[in-house]
Amino acid sequence: MTNSSRFLEYQNRINEALDCAIPETDVLYSKIFTAMRYSLNAGGKRIRPVLVLEFSRIFGVDESVAMPFAVALEMIHTYSLIHDDLPCMDDDDLRRGRPTNHKMFGEATAVLAGDALLNRAFEHVLSNSNSISADVTLRAMKCLAKASGADGMIGGQMIDMQSENRELSLSETELLQSLKTGAIIEAAAIMGCILGNADEEKSAASLEYAKKVGLAFQIKDDILNVEGDSKLLGKDVGNDEESGKSTFVKLLGLDGCKERLEQLTEEAVVAAKKLPESEFLVWLAYELLSRKN
Ligand code: IPE
Ligand code: IPE
Ligand code: MG
Ligand code: MG
Repeated sequence: MTNSSRFLEYQNRINEALDCAIPETDVLYSKIFTAMRYSLNAGGKRIRPVLVLEFSRIFGVDESVAMPFAVALEMIHTYSLIHDDLPCMDDDDLRRGRPTNHKMFGEATAVLAGDALLNRAFEHVLSNSNSISADVTLRAMKCLAKASGADGMIGGQMIDMQSENRELSLSETELLQSLKTGAIIEAAAIMGCILGNADEEKSAASLEYAKKVGLAFQIKDDILNVEGDSKLLGKDVGNDEESGKSTFVKLLGLDGCKERLEQLTEEAVVAAKKLPESEFLVWLAYELLSRKN
């Protein structure tokens, strides 16, 4: 199987699992489920759950065991995007090729849909992890909770918002990005290691790969915000500069960013090669380097 067909198959199975995770109901409050499904099923790239499944595969974990964790991670990522797009944050109108959640359902529902996805993520894992030990589930959940909380993604979002009024240094920007984007990508790799009981050396290589890919992913996101195509991206471009965000492009310039992106990708590849069956991870790092969306 080629790497790109493996990627497509992962995406398909993840989309199926996401679709089943939040069924349509006709309860009085069914609007919340419609709003959750609207953003969750809008067809993101699914990079984070793909990483959960691939790291799990590398460490010998059955996909049926890993999938609830992959689904939970994508739910949390999607909630973070719904809130990120709100008028009080980035105030964006377009996401995953559709009007943003608050444009479609109103701000109150968008806030609730984000909150509900976050809670549903944990409920989903806890309801679907009977086949593994409670200790493993707890360790994986602790990793996920930390990565999405104040010392992870939310902390990064906090710095991001503050950076609209204050210029950040390169190291502060690296911290911002490693929390905002890196933490969840790292959690994807680490959860795979926890589920598969990977040894210390392989866990360290997995984390190193995820750190490099996470930073590279955000640098590419910053580049695409300047020179990407809104139609391909499914979201608006040019808004980082408008809102005065502290981005890598602002600090390093476009050429500097591209150089750093290539360097980080090479470093990710070196880390991946310390792992068994790293071919797909290597392919993915290059794929993310050249992505258009
Ligand atoms: C966008 O993430 C937000 C960042 C952290 C850069 P993705 O580019 O993975 O968005 P989707 O999930 O494909 O929509
Ligand atoms: C979003 O970051 C990252 C989150 C944690 C939600 P950005 O604001 O830079 O991402 P886009 O460009 O809106 O997708
Ligand atoms: Mg933002
Ligand atoms: Mg944004």
